[in-house]
Amino acid sequence: MNVVLTQPSAAPVIQALRSIGYTASTAIADLVDNSLDAESSIVNVYFEYGESDGLIKIVDNGTGMNEDMLQTAMNIGSKDPRAKRSPNELGRFGMGLKTASFSMGKRLSVLTKKDGVYFERCWDLDYVSECNEWQLFTRIPDEVRVKLGEIEGQNGTVVCIDKLDRFMGYGRKRKLKETSFFNKVSRINKHLEFVFHSIIEKNDVGIFVNGNKVVPWDPFLRHHQNTIEGEMQLLKLNDHRIKVQYFILPHASHLTEPEYKKAGGYKGWRDHQGLYIYRENRLLHFGDWMGLFPKDASSQLARVRVDLPNEADSDWQVDIKKSGINLPEEAKKRLEAISAIARKVSRDIFYFRTQSTNHGRRMAGSLNTWEQSGRDDGPQFILNRNHPILSELFNKIDNESAKLLNLYLKFVQLGSPSNIIDSPKVPEETVQEISDADKGLVLQFASTMLELNVASDEEQLLNIMITQPAFDGINRVTLKFILKEAGVIG
Ligand SMILES: Nc1ncnc2c1ncn2[C@@H]1O[C@H](COP(=O)(O)OP(=O)(O)OP(=O)(O)O)[C@@H](O)[C@H]1O
Ligand SMILES: [Mg+2]
Repeated sequence: MNVVLTQPSAAPVIQALRSIGYTASTAIADLVDNSLDAESSIVNVYFEYGESDGLIKIVDNGTGMNEDMLQTAMNIGSKDPRAKRSPNELGRFGMGLKTASFSMGKRLSVLTKKDGVYFERCWDLDYVSECNEWQLFTRIPDEVRVKLGEIEGQNGTVVCIDKLDRFMGYGRKRKLKETSFFNKVSRINKHLEFVFHSIIEKNDVGIFVNGNKVVPWDPFLRHHQNTIEGEMQLLKLNDHRIKVQYFILPHASHLTEPEYKKAGGYKGWRDHQGLYIYRENRLLHFGDWMGLFPKDASSQLARVRVDLPNEADSDWQVDIKKSGINLPEEAKKRLEAISAIARKVSRDIFYFRTQSTNHGRRMAGSLNTWEQSGRDDGPQFILNRNHPILSELFNKIDNESAKLLNLYLKFVQLGSPSNIIDSPKVPEETVQEISDADKGLVLQFASTMLELNVASDEEQLLNIMITQPAFDGINRVTLKFILKEAGVIG
């Protein structure tokens, strides 16, 4: 065969590997994945600050590795991504340990204990770059080793990253200040609360950040009595079973302030709507409808849980960082249909505060005559112009009647007791600045009143108009001025 062995040069490959787009949060989550795959019941993540460099340690009490396993684990591409993984396994590419660590710092030390015997390895990217070869240290440098401590029990692993150039500016002029360093740590902590909430809830596992337990964050508020749980749906895609279930969170009025704040997550309510994609119970993606729908205020109570098994990875194009996926074409239609229902129920509750207990009865949101506008200015409640009876009526009548009906509805809306509570005080009797839209309404109303003989002269007309809630902010002088200007009155 006409082939020649061509080894990639180490230095450029490293740079590329370091730049595949991890954030500190996704990187730490990827390392915690490994500890969970190793059946740990306790995972301790430590962040230590130092003026010139810090240290990140992930300490677990999992199965540990023997020398061969450790040597393989340190290899870039330690497993074939096409290999079948056992159920619940979070790993896929044989890369995470290295890529996640190198995205934060240049030195990765792994100390592991298997059946009471210690093994160690260390990558130092400064050294790899210098000799442009993948030379792996079989000993962890003393200055790092002393910081790792001993592993309790017979088995366990410590993964340690230092020379934190990307995480905190090691080796650079500008380094992260201590407060910013720990702010970053709390963002990571929040991320872990999200990503592993389901695993922590379902399994007997504790994850700690600098000694503090990571408290699972349930995006679906399942324990709240007003949360609506949709029926669990099973989809079969390429012989893989996908579970889908929608949840509608309670209306804000059913939540205490802390509950409301917590449920809003770190992005806020609007940016937490949408699909929550889990792979083996580990949250992969959330915060939008993945191109199926745009985000909108009224859908913010809808969160749809989608559960994938790891065998469906290639269908969904799970990425190395376990933070990105693509919706397969075959899944789109089904998810769109389920999400549409969830969004509709959300809209219903968002506007009408429907109780979860009777949501079935009031589900037909479009049958409600009033809708909350959701705006701070203008009317608080607007008439539902899409009400089926009203639509039918508009279909049946001629243009002239439709105009009259429209005008009437406008007045009903503007005169609604809920809308006039905060109406502004009528100002002094001088001619006011009035918008063209309001002027139009004044003229339309006046001519209709005259046409219908409700008012027969100027005085009567103005008396009627001044009492209309619709014209609450407009004084008599201005009304008269508008009508005169347009020639409606003499
Ligand atoms: N904390 C740990 N305890 C025991 N074994 C570990 C630990 N971390 C890594 N390993 C071993 O090292 C291997 C390589 O880990 P790495 O994260 O690079 O790849 P992966 O987990 O197999 O796949 P992925 O790239 O999707 O994360 C793992 O498959 C596992 O066998
Ligand atoms: Mg991994």
